Amino acid sequence: MKKVITYGTYDLLHQGHINILRRAKELGDYLIVGVTSDSFDRGRGKLNVRNNVLERVEAVKATGYADEVIIEDYLGQKIDDIQKYDVDIFAIGSDWVGKFDYLNEYCKVVYLPRTEGISSTMLRAESQTTYRIGIVGSGRIAHRFVPESKVVNGAEVTGVMNPDKENAEAFAQIHGLTAYTGYDQFLQNVDLVYVASPHLTHYDYVKQALLADKHVLCEIPFVLSKEQALELYHLAEDRNLVLMEASKTAYCPAFGHIVTLVKSGIIGDVVDVKASLSKMVPPPTRELDAMQAGGAMTEHAPLTLLAIIKLLGVEWKDVDFHSRIENGVDIYTKGVVNYPHSTASFTLGIGVKTEGNLVISGTKGYIYVPAPWWLTDFFEVRYEDQTKNKKYFYSYDGEGLRYEIQEWLSMVVNERRSCYKLRRRESVAIAEIIEKYRNKENVTIL
Ligand code: CTP
Repeated sequence: MKKVITYGTYDLLHQGHINILRRAKELGDYLIVGVTSDSFDRGRGKLNVRNNVLERVEAVKATGYADEVIIEDYLGQKIDDIQKYDVDIFAIGSDWVGKFDYLNEYCKVVYLPRTEGISSTMLRAESQTTYRIGIVGSGRIAHRFVPESKVVNGAEVTGVMNPDKENAEAFAQIHGLTAYTGYDQFLQNVDLVYVASPHLTHYDYVKQALLADKHVLCEIPFVLSKEQALELYHLAEDRNLVLMEASKTAYCPAFGHIVTLVKSGIIGDVVDVKASLSKMVPPPTRELDAMQAGGAMTEHAPLTLLAIIKLLGVEWKDVDFHSRIENGVDIYTKGVVNYPHSTASFTLGIGVKTEGNLVISGTKGYIYVPAPWWLTDFFEVRYEDQTKNKKYFYSYDGEGLRYEIQEWLSMVVNERRSCYKLRRRESVAIAEIIEKYRNKENVTIL
């Protein structure tokens, strides 16, 4: 029996896919089709795939050409599959000519003619609504947001709003956008709003955007109190709008995998989470300005608390803080968050340097994520028996903002109001802990 194997994403299955599957099947007696997993596609920068892996597998099966469907989940898997399934022919479209010649060592490689004039990319573009995104604020993160949005289908940044005319215009000129100094006019001209303004303005900008029926992505720290966070999420819910906290680590592929590995028990019961993050900032800067809610806690706690809350949950018991204060802002804060059966701590610095790693300790082993863990592209699961240790590598493309932008648009398009990568209740819990600190509850000054 002659076995043939072919691979693809098969998103929005089209005639080109049907033709190639038919041609591949005609090459032998038994056709195996490898369909890429969602995480494999994301990992290789294919962010805009519409159908999930199950839908894509079903679509391939429905063509009737596949005798067997397998999932492609890692680089190098083709060589494994060819040997494992004793494959005679590897077939792929002519758009890949030459790229798979290395497989000739294992089986015959055949490049089949590609169907002209159709592709998943084309179909996605045709059916894609383009959303006009407006950015509130024109600081460092806003500059990074614009190029990142360009790799997300359907996202087009069109405007920037800053009450400071000069700032707004300078930003608009760099990125080819329209500058606004008035919020109402800005809101009338955009569909989606990304709030990247100074911390203390988030609440008002988000609220007004929601009242104007705009979906909102808000930078961290989202808001500085539990009550405000709840109010805004309720408002979004009532108006059937997406409100998402732009905690970029939450949406990056490697961090998501850490959370699922931990939840599946790979290191046993989690007993301790230690997350650290420091970025030294020279004065004068917003981060060191007490009047603008600067300080290590407001700057960096959202990401470290994200790790703690994603791993240990929102039902924490008590929290205490230890801070070094200079000119009214905490240049260093250590916090301990206790749970009924586990504990967590975070260390944050803007004027004290800490090692920025994440260590998750469990009853069977631990996960070590080196600095900068919040831009995770590598981690290791370690055990007493070192031969069982396993390293995981990921790509972290660009500035990493593309993952949250993609999730935001996907929520808007698919009318999802909640995202498992960062639940609304988790975002509220983060705001609550920051609020306790700002209210000086259990804060020891060093
Ligand atoms: N294919 C083809 N003719 C097309 C499109 C795809 O023969 N018009 C083939 C590819 O060469 C590959 C298989 O179908 O062997 C799966 O390709 P896939 O990447 O899933 O499809 P595309 O439409 O090319 O997707 P994208 O636009 O996302 O790259």
